[in-house]
Amino acid sequence: MIKFHNNEKIKKFIKLFFSKNGLTVQQILNVVIYKISPKRTILNYDPVTLIIYPTDRCNYQCPFCPHHTRLLKEKYPYFHEPVEDFTLEKFKQVVDLFPKTILITFAGVGEPLLHPQLFDMADYATSKNMYSQLITNGSLLDDEKIERILDNPNFYSVSVSLNAITPEKYAQSFDGRREIFEKVIFNIKNLVTKKRERKHPLLEIAVSFVIHKKNIFQAKSFIEFSEKLGADRITFLNLIDFGISGFEKENQLYEKDLEIKRYFEELKNFVKNRKIKVDLPVLFKDKIEKKCQWFFKNLSIDGAGNVGGCGRVMNPQPEYGNVFREGKNVWNNSYFQKMRKIFISPHEELPECCKNCVENRC
Ligand SMILES: C[S@@+](CC[C@H](N)C(=O)[O-])C[C@H]1O[C@@H](n2cnc3c(N)ncnc32)[C@H](O)[C@@H]1O
Ligand code: SF4
Ligand code: SF4
Repeated sequence: MIKFHNNEKIKKFIKLFFSKNGLTVQQILNVVIYKISPKRTILNYDPVTLIIYPTDRCNYQCPFCPHHTRLLKEKYPYFHEPVEDFTLEKFKQVVDLFPKTILITFAGVGEPLLHPQLFDMADYATSKNMYSQLITNGSLLDDEKIERILDNPNFYSVSVSLNAITPEKYAQSFDGRREIFEKVIFNIKNLVTKKRERKHPLLEIAVSFVIHKKNIFQAKSFIEFSEKLGADRITFLNLIDFGISGFEKENQLYEKDLEIKRYFEELKNFVKNRKIKVDLPVLFKDKIEKKCQWFFKNLSIDGAGNVGGCGRVMNPQPEYGNVFREGKNVWNNSYFQKMRKIFISPHEELPECCKNCVENRC
């Protein structure tokens, strides 16, 4: 999912306007209307971002991820039932429905690089003046795929979910095979080197780390390690509570936990004046505020056309709507109206997942 970080927003936006295949006036107006419009249940602008779930297949089994974890419905009602892969034709249909969208994120609950036509999709988005972002575990990022990324001037970001700095920790986090870590590290370095050689005008290479109470003290080492890799950015992803044992809300980061707070203050100093950009995690405040913007800016879509608006927990589901059945109206369908009302009205109670989400606790 994209984050336009506050102090970089304007600079980036200007860059996106003036680059080759840059944003159209129509796209810019759409973002402006999104920014200045009051929150309403029915929106008069198109989704600013689309999250595409290219495939629900994955070659990893990360212990904190709901991809492969069958949980009780009461604990996690948003389990994403696997559907067919997106096809290129269906992807084109979606992009053509929402020509004012500016950014496509290829992510979802699966490994996007398993999709054989992922880069054809990104190239089509570029032909429509959109930008692409890829979130990947990095294991399949070979020379050919790197070339396809670098051939596309609108490839905005590749974020590799690394989560560890040693083969031992990586093996614990992933599927037990230590040698995969070396491969992923090689792939990241290869991307960094080739990006420098090819002088890609835009691409940002990020590495991410799902952070929680048990691993926060590895944060400084992760920063040093990622800097040596040559990444442009580190994104610390606050743990999402999907109801998975060992990764529940008790393990999230709370401001009131004094040991965590002290380390976090050190971390803030540690990242000052570094070349690499660091998106620090957020320490949850006690107060829950309805700040989340996702249902007002984003449409998530899986290969069957099912939709969702949330970029974190509530994955696309058939009962939320279907873009191939409802067309453009899906963006203002009864589900989206209901969810927006929850965020607008002070009297509507938030779903449990939104109460424990970084979006409303910062
Ligand atoms: C679900 S994955 C899909 C893309 C790809 N398979 C990957 O791992 O990058 C998208 C992102 O969600 C993150 N993620 C998975 N489970 C999470 C959790 N419980 N809390 C926070 N982030 C999580 C992953 O680390 C990854 O960066
Ligand atoms: S690689 Fe991504 S989708 Fe697959 S299990 Fe890990 S976090 Fe989940
Ligand atoms: S607050 Fe709710 S809707 Fe927003 S990202 Fe978090 S879980 Fe999704």
